[in-house]
Formats: sequence, structure tokens, C-alpha cells
Amino acid sequence: MTREPADSDKRPSITNSELLRLNAAMREEIEQLKLSNKELLLNDTYYRSIFENSLYSIVVTGKDLKFVKVNSAFCKLFEYEEDELIGKMGVGDVTYQDDIEKSIVLLGKMIRGELDSFIMDKKYVTKSGKIIDALIFVRGIYDESGQHLSFTASILDITERKKMERALCVSERHLKHTLETVRRLSSHMETVRENERKRIAREIHDELGQIMTALRFDLYWFKDRLPDASTDLLAKIETMIAQISSAIRSVQRICSELRPQMLDNLGLAEAVDWQVKEFSKMTGIPSTLEVRHTRSDCSGRECATAIFRIFQEVLTNIARHSGASQVTARLVHGNNRCLIEVTDNGSGITTAQLTSDKSYGIIGIRERVRMCNGDMEITGEDMNGTKFRVSIPCSEREVTGYENSGC
Ligand SMILES: Nc1ncnc2c1ncn2[C@@H]1O[C@H](COP(=O)(O)OP(=O)(O)OP(=O)(O)O)[C@@H](O)[C@H]1O
Ligand SMILES: [Mg+2]
Repeated sequence: MTREPADSDKRPSITNSELLRLNAAMREEIEQLKLSNKELLLNDTYYRSIFENSLYSIVVTGKDLKFVKVNSAFCKLFEYEEDELIGKMGVGDVTYQDDIEKSIVLLGKMIRGELDSFIMDKKYVTKSGKIIDALIFVRGIYDESGQHLSFTASILDITERKKMERALCVSERHLKHTLETVRRLSSHMETVRENERKRIAREIHDELGQIMTALRFDLYWFKDRLPDASTDLLAKIETMIAQISSAIRSVQRICSELRPQMLDNLGLAEAVDWQVKEFSKMTGIPSTLEVRHTRSDCSGRECATAIFRIFQEVLTNIARHSGASQVTARLVHGNNRCLIEVTDNGSGITTAQLTSDKSYGIIGIRERVRMCNGDMEITGEDMNGTKFRVSIPCSEREVTGYENSGC
């Protein structure tokens, strides 16, 4: 009787050498697996360490927004123990009421795959009821098929920063308010000062001017009645008349400097023209003024006063600082704007002088221009002079003719 061959007999026989080779291959694979395992363990240790020691609060939540994993910074920030949080509480329990809505909207977008991460400022409430401001970065975790599994969030406590920002905001508002008040006060003081100048000029003119004119008449009266022989007395009286005449001229000059009557009576162009002539007379610097109107002159009293005072300061600066030998000025009025340009050929103002917080004259000019909603430009070139250009919006009044004067 013949025997059916057993299954083992059907298997291809493996030689010893093949067995040895297979054995070696398996050993190598086991070694590789061990190595990978070791690497995995090491990586796990790294990530645990980063997670636990992070200064940021880190949290992992499920799809239902319940806490799955929290690090110790998170527990510390929210004042809970880990086991009070995991599986028992969720995002909604620590989010400040007013911020729940916007958090839900963003998290919903992530679940639907419309967003895969977001950063937002948000408020939380801790166990003791303290409200904290935080900056959070949220990222979704998805499986291979793209299905949303959970959320991870890093939370940075910015309560102190926000507090400082709010305090800064308050002090900025306060500063702005104070600055506005100071500006209003300075504008008011300017008006008061201008009115005061006008009053003093009028009083000096009316009181002192008239008394001196009367005195001069009296002296002439005496002079006419002196006997011919009184030559000494006559000489004395003539000296007195000359002195009083000079005093009258001084009074007139002081009054004009305080508040040129022509600014009120004849307008800005006349007043500027007079100022240029006075400047040339006093300094000996040849100066020209070109006045152009488009059938109008500045009628706004404040605008005219501002331009006139700026012009006075610019000329005073040229006399005091520039060493110039020539000055040209231009006053242009038209289209409801008044422009004044003054150019000298002196040493040239420097940027440092222009921006110095001790340049009170320049600061005053800037402030006047700002108060009148105007604009200005001052440029200086080393040994090539300085150019002032100020333009101020102002209303117009009809004038006749066109002026051009030189002195
Ligand atoms: N036309 C100019 N040419 C050269 N330098 C000038 C000219 N105008 C002004 N400066 C420089 O700019 C500086 C600031 O001028 P600013 O009018 O502000 O002050 P100040 O004339 O020195 O003093 P004050 O407060 O009496 O006006 C001057 O000290 C001067 O150095
Ligand atoms: Mg000055």
C-alpha cells in the first residue's frame, strides 16, 4: 500500500544556509524596530517636556470642546487642578461670557474645514472669578481622511500688557485733552495780548502823544514871545523842541510796533509794506516787497494779525541771526488764501535750529499757522540763505489796484 505524502513532505525543503540567512534578516529587522521604538520614546519625552515646561498654557480638547489634555501652565493660569478639568470641563466653562459667541463661530469654521488655525484676543474667567486677557493660537487636528478630531490651543496671558495698553490709552487721551486746552489757552492769550497791545498803543498815542504835542506848541509860543536879546533861552527852547519832536516820533514808532494802525485801517498789505521799510531803515539791509492781490486783500482780522506777527518775527530773525545783505518778500492774496514768502541771502537756518525745542520764535510761528489752519515751510541752505513760506486760508476784501514797492 502506497502512503499519501504528508503536508510537510510537500513543503519545499529549506536548506540550513537559507535558514541562517533568514534568521539574520529577522534579527536585523528586530534591531531596527527596537531603534524606532527608542526614537519614538525619546520624541515622546521631548514633546512631554515641551508640553509640561512651556510658559504658554497649552490645552487639547475633543470635538465637543471638553478638555482632554492640559499642561501645568494652563492649570496655574486657570487656578484648577488637572483632574478638575480633564473630561469634566470644557472651553465654554472658562470663556468670558461676551467672547463665547465669537469663539464658537471660529471653532465651527474649523470643524467644517473652512479654517485650520486662528489667532485671537480673548477673555477668560479663572476659578476664582478673575478675568484674564489672552492671546490664543488654535489649530485643528485631523485624521488621514481629513476628518476633524480635536483642537490644540496655546494661550498667552496678556492681562498686564492689556492693562498697560488701557492705561496708556487713558493717558494719551488725557495728554491730547491737555494739549488741546493748552492750545486753546495759548490762542486765547494771543488774542488777549493783541487787544492789550492795541489798548496800550491807543493810550500812549492819545495821552502821551497829545501831551507832548501840546508841550511843543507851548514851546513855540514861548519862542515867539522871547525878547530878541535872549539868545541863550532861544537856543535852549529850540533844543527842547527838537527833543520833544524826537520823543513824539519815538512814541509813534512804539505805537506802530505795538499795533500798526494801518493793519486795522488800511489792511495787511500796507502794514507789511510799512514793516519792510522800517526794517530797511533800522538794519540798513536792502529789502524789496512784492504785493500781489487778485482784486482782494485779507479781511480776516485774525489771519491778517497772524501773517503780520509772523512777518515781524521772520524779519527780526533775519536782523538778529542771518548776516544777510539782501531780503526779498512777497505777499500774495487770492483764492481765499494769503501767502507770505521771505527770502534772505544769509547764513541759512539749520535743521537743528528749526527743530530745537528752544526755538520759541519758530515754535510761535508754527503755532500761529496751526491755529489758522495754514501750512508753512522753512528751508535753509548753508551760507545760501533761508526761505520762509507761510500760507493761511483767509477771507477776502475788495481792493483796487496793484502794488509793488521797493525800499
Ligand atoms: N533767517 C535766519 N537765518 C539764519 N538763522 C536763523 C534765521 N532765523 C532763525 N535762525 C536760527 O534759528 C534759531 C531759532 O529762531 P527763533 O526765532 O525760534 O529763536 P530766537 O530768534 O533765537 O529767539 P526768540 O525766542 O527771541 O525768537 C535762531 O536762534 C537762529 O539760530
Ligand atoms: Mg526769533
